[in-house]
Amino acid sequence: MLSLTPMPTELVSYYNDSEDTRHFCFRLLDPEAIKKTQPGQFFMLHIPGIGAAPFTFTTPPDSRGVFYALIKSVGKVTRALFNQQAGTTLGVRGPFGTGWPIKTLAGQRILIVAGGCGIAPLVNLTETLLQQNSYQSLALLYGAGSQKTEMLKAQRLRWQQQMPMYTVLEAPGQSELTGTPVDVLDTVLGQLGEFPTALLLCGPEIMMQKMAGKFIDKGLAESSIWLSIERRMHCAVGLCGHCYLHHSYGCADGPTYRWDHYQQLSAGDTDPGLVIPSQI
Ligand SMILES: Cc1cc2nc3c(=O)[nH]c(=O)nc-3n(C[C@H](O)[C@H](O)[C@H](O)COP(=O)(O)OP(=O)(O)OC[C@H]3O[C@@H](n4cnc5c(N)ncnc54)[C@H](O)[C@@H]3O)c2cc1C
Ligand code: FES
Repeated sequence: MLSLTPMPTELVSYYNDSEDTRHFCFRLLDPEAIKKTQPGQFFMLHIPGIGAAPFTFTTPPDSRGVFYALIKSVGKVTRALFNQQAGTTLGVRGPFGTGWPIKTLAGQRILIVAGGCGIAPLVNLTETLLQQNSYQSLALLYGAGSQKTEMLKAQRLRWQQQMPMYTVLEAPGQSELTGTPVDVLDTVLGQLGEFPTALLLCGPEIMMQKMAGKFIDKGLAESSIWLSIERRMHCAVGLCGHCYLHHSYGCADGPTYRWDHYQQLSAGDTDPGLVIPSQI
């Protein structure tokens, strides 16, 4: 839906996840307003009088219009959201963007690598893959700063019953694996046994850059790597140019890109793109 008018949406409830992060439950007042979403697609949340920001559906809208998002408080819009009371009416537009390549992932040995809040855009994907069970194998490597900031502990424990799960924390002595996902990749690959045939990345851009580089060095085709990028977004429908990067609109052509396509977009570009992690 390419509308710029937010749809009235109730903030139903919320509960805490990790430090500064909450699961929010929303309800579209018109349950028909959003009919279908793809894992990885996002919506714009409008807080009247404050502004709007993009977030990913962790659970897509059901027949009552109820959906969930995992949101970290980092700035103006998110801080205002954390101050809202349950029952407040906010605005939502969407769904927007490209989703993860679900069909292409069938029959593959999939490794998902998420860093910090980058796990949010991968939740619906992981649930969908587990439900469809059409992959050859599926594993998740999740990195966070410390036990205080690691996200989705309960959900990851549940996933662990169905798939190999590796958590790496930067804080020493807080987990079996210490460092970043890039630091522990060889250990994880050793434990996995079989080399992945598909790699999905979401997190700090420097982490995605290094992780993709390591896999390409090890022989994985660039066309077997996907990433989800974060850019500042305003219109989310390819009009304002806020999300413009490498001759592409992150809101409409992304946020999910295949690695080789993303590299082609940036070829010969003066914008260094993924090399600058703070460029959001
Ligand atoms: C497609 C997509 C999906 C996303 N999904 C999620 C999700 O599911 N959950 C989630 O928590 N987040 C998600 N995000 C990130 C979220 O949209 C941002 O954190 C959003 O900017 C928060 O808005 P804010 O007003 O609270 O923060 P802002 O005030 O916009 O600040 C955000 C961060 O940017 C920094 N910043 C502020 N201004 C600038 C500037 N001019 N240049 C560089 N940095 C600046 C701030 O210091 C802060 O760290 C997603 C982003 C995208 C693009
Ligand atoms: S956010 Fe306006 S063009 Fe993408």
